[in-house]
Amino acid sequence: MAMTRWLVAVSVVGVALGIVTPPASAAPGKKLEAYGYVVLAPGSSDGSSGPLQALARVVIAAPSEPCPKLSPGHRPMTPRTNPNPTTFAVTVCEAVYPIGESLHVDGLGITLPKVSSKQPEKIIVVGDTGCLNNSDQDCKTEWPFPALAKAAASLHPDLVIHLGDYNYRGTPRTVNGQQVYNGCAVTSYVRQNPENDPGSTSWDRWENWRDDFFRAAAPLLEEAPWVFTRGNHELCSQAGPGYFFFLDPHSTLLGQDPALYQCPAQVNGSAPFPNLTFVAPYALPFDKGLSLVVMDSANACDNPTPVTNALAIYTAQFAGLPDLIQGQYAWLATHRPIWGVRVNQPSVDCAASSGTCLNAVLQEAIRASLGELPPAVTLPLAGHMHLFEAVNFDSVGRPPQLVIGTGGVALAGTSVSDFTADNLARALRSPDTRVLIYCNNNFVDSPAFRTKLPSASLNLSTWVALHDYGYRNVYELAPILDPATSRIAFEGTSLSLQP
Ligand SMILES: [Fe+2]
Repeated sequence: MAMTRWLVAVSVVGVALGIVTPPASAAPGKKLEAYGYVVLAPGSSDGSSGPLQALARVVIAAPSEPCPKLSPGHRPMTPRTNPNPTTFAVTVCEAVYPIGESLHVDGLGITLPKVSSKQPEKIIVVGDTGCLNNSDQDCKTEWPFPALAKAAASLHPDLVIHLGDYNYRGTPRTVNGQQVYNGCAVTSYVRQNPENDPGSTSWDRWENWRDDFFRAAAPLLEEAPWVFTRGNHELCSQAGPGYFFFLDPHSTLLGQDPALYQCPAQVNGSAPFPNLTFVAPYALPFDKGLSLVVMDSANACDNPTPVTNALAIYTAQFAGLPDLIQGQYAWLATHRPIWGVRVNQPSVDCAASSGTCLNAVLQEAIRASLGELPPAVTLPLAGHMHLFEAVNFDSVGRPPQLVIGTGGVALAGTSVSDFTADNLARALRSPDTRVLIYCNNNFVDSPAFRTKLPSASLNLSTWVALHDYGYRNVYELAPILDPATSRIAFEGTSLSLQP
């Protein structure tokens, strides 16, 4: 397949500002936050496949604002249905967006990107971009997503794929001491969005979406169209209401049934159904070659104990994939990895320890449906695990899996707060300084450089952080070295391990 495609998965640290501009209806001197973006959508009325369509969305951080128009042409936008005006004191407007044109949003200073139906050449893939904002993670100094979005925007991509989990700070694991439903079997459903208390402090709310996604993503939102997948943090028990309001690509403007793309009213204390929403897979067909298939795996428990009906639902979804794929080949974007490995050992027996190999439900659904993924699927993309991992297989029927879940969490052992302009200028002196990045996975036979899982190495994040600060003479080195015989002189002191 003669084509060049850039697949960029990065993780850096820094700060990006939200867009603060006056909306069309703002009184003189009044300023409101607003964010504009373009979502790629399946154009069929059943929401499953092509033709490729795009939707312009504008979020205005004020309730009941008149929708702006898109120009040239002063094309109208219409409001999306607000799932809870009490906690989402915002206006979300949308319009079908033309292919091949760049429009701006009247009065808001927002320019939306041009969308092409041609196969994208440069693609940014991110996942798990939220920030915990607790004792485990300081969102001011230890959150890579703002700088990641800024750096990614500077690469001028054709497409951004987000693999889900946008909202960590607004999705606690427990509410009132009870574990919130997370996709696995429970006899008593617990949700953070009580149906009879729309003002509850635990309810999914705009402020968390704003702080965990929109302000950080702002530079990248206007740079390219986006494809959004739903993570487990966007389950209906958690930030699902906001996900369907802001990001889900289906719309009544495309003739699609809104009942399929929203969270039902939540009822506590009994079986998970009917509290859940399973969005059917859909395909985005580009002009030739690639069909990008998006699968909602939010309800696919990581261990073999899904909720009742989930395995049957996912089995039927995999069985239907061949009918969705219209191009020569497909990528499958879904939040939970079909094949992700947790541990750093030479050999892993997934059958003996299913918890180390995600995802039990998706794997079983493939076995029960087609036996393997459709041959046209050449690359499954997923997040969920907070690492970068590439998994290859000897057997046929399993294309290489990429796991890209490094967008929001602080990686173990990083001192990301050390990456400041002053510190780098002091250490490197000039933007032209040649920087060669080695990481632990570049060394063998050294107690000083314990072997690390390549996916846990800091090469990627270091490269991107340096690039973002203007250092472009940076190289990530490939060879595996023995420090005892390498021609590179390493600084430091040898230490003996204590018995
Ligand atoms: Fe996740």
